[in-house]
Amino acid sequence: SRLLVLHGPNLNLLGTREPGIYGETDLDEIDRRLILQATSGGAELACFQSNAEHALIERVQQASSDGVDGIIINPAAFTHTSVALRDALAAVAIPFIEVHLSNIHAREPFRQHSYFSDIARGVIAGLGPLGYELALSALLENTERN
Ligand code: DQA
Repeated sequence: SRLLVLHGPNLNLLGTREPGIYGETDLDEIDRRLILQATSGGAELACFQSNAEHALIERVQQASSDGVDGIIINPAAFTHTSVALRDALAAVAIPFIEVHLSNIHAREPFRQHSYFSDIARGVIAGLGPLGYELALSALLENTERN
């Protein structure tokens, strides 16, 4: 199967960005582990980070023509703002899992609404980088069965 991990704005700063909230693991490390996990699960995984909404939208649209079977997305701040990125995911109709490093429900009120959760296959928040690995396990299981 073909899988895609999308990371939204400021996640390129992981490791140094508010480590008390987001941890000390950097994005390259997270991606490296996920690629290893995907490979041993017999899947092909691409990872993409952008600070730009339009770049993420274009990557989602491209996923459709690339034949991607599943997406893991941490929309970061776009979680709480982006109807456009939500619409892109709805348009391509590729199953996706929403991941957040922090528990957005235990933080500021403006983080407690997501434009993605109601159309996501599943949502994981508050488990740090492990959340991505759990999401990947779920996608690997699902795509194996299809
Ligand atoms: C985040 C939570 C968002 O509220 C925040 O804007 C982020 C990261 C998380 O992974 O915990 O940038 O998505």
